[in-house]
Amino acid sequence: MGENLLSKGFLDVPIDYSLNLFSEINKLKKEKNAIILAHYYQDADIQDIADYIGDSLGLSQEASKTNADIIVFAGVHFMAETAKILSPGKKVLLPDLNAGCSLADSCPAEKFAEFKKLHPDHLVISYINCTADLKTLTDIVCTSTNAVQIVESLPIDQKIIFAPDKNLGAYINKLTGRNMVLWNGACMVHEIFSLEKILKLKNQHPGALLLAHPECESNVLEIADYIGSTTGILRYATKSDAKEFIVATEAGIIHQMQKANPNKSFIPAPPNNSCACNDCPHMKLNTLEKLYNCLKFEAPEIVLSDELIENAKRPILRMLELSSQFGL
Ligand code: 13P
Ligand code: SF4
Repeated sequence: MGENLLSKGFLDVPIDYSLNLFSEINKLKKEKNAIILAHYYQDADIQDIADYIGDSLGLSQEASKTNADIIVFAGVHFMAETAKILSPGKKVLLPDLNAGCSLADSCPAEKFAEFKKLHPDHLVISYINCTADLKTLTDIVCTSTNAVQIVESLPIDQKIIFAPDKNLGAYINKLTGRNMVLWNGACMVHEIFSLEKILKLKNQHPGALLLAHPECESNVLEIADYIGSTTGILRYATKSDAKEFIVATEAGIIHQMQKANPNKSFIPAPPNNSCACNDCPHMKLNTLEKLYNCLKFEAPEIVLSDELIENAKRPILRMLELSSQFGL
């Protein structure tokens, strides 16, 4: 593959629009023994063509056990990186290498290494939304599904640094009564919700339940009827008898919520301005066209050194072991 075709971080190859991309992608998947793993925040058409759609924990579990030769990761960079770390013998592709994460970016590994030195007797728990370099400085990785259980599995007097999400960290501190030292990072999408507008919306829809991701700020979490991961939010809405929900997380999840619950209505929580900020700009860089080119030409590929894979793998495997002990 010519370097210049990848200079933008994705394959800049014109698409033949007479093709049906859905059937072409399905054909390529079979030919190449490839699997598409997609996060709930992806565009609806990408979710619809994926072999597995899930939250960060489910996607890691799936990446670690797949028999496919190629994993196309429809998500952001840290997710594809995690898949490569867990399945180093497989080719892991990301449709657009620019699909980063503001939360992962908020915690550069060199700065964190200095911070860690200030707290020498602390164990490090890092949210999976961080770079592979940060994972090498971590004892246990967690996701929003298992974070509380992982923290609670440690002795009450264990000193802990939690990185990079201060909102998730504060939520766990509140729930567990711990006093973890928090790195000051946050997700740009989950910090944008307006409490005032959500309260107004609740007044207009008195029966609606507020479902929130723990990456949201504490003022939103305080008024939420349910707090959980994307999978948790989807399951809660499906089991609930309520008919209306305000969804305080990235709006992509609503596609699966609506599919599973055609008679219920889902309202995206409003941001504090008029833009479509509860769409994650990083997640939304992936498109069906880029995914097609990526699978067809097998690029861009995630490439990591053996040493980085070795060191970043330990805390992720610890998370997977603990999660299976918890029955997750
Ligand atoms: P989960 O899907 O694991 O809840 O994570 C949400 C998220 O922010 C992914 O970037
Ligand atoms: Fe990162 Fe937030 Fe986008 Fe998730 S929604 S990928 S945490 S910026």
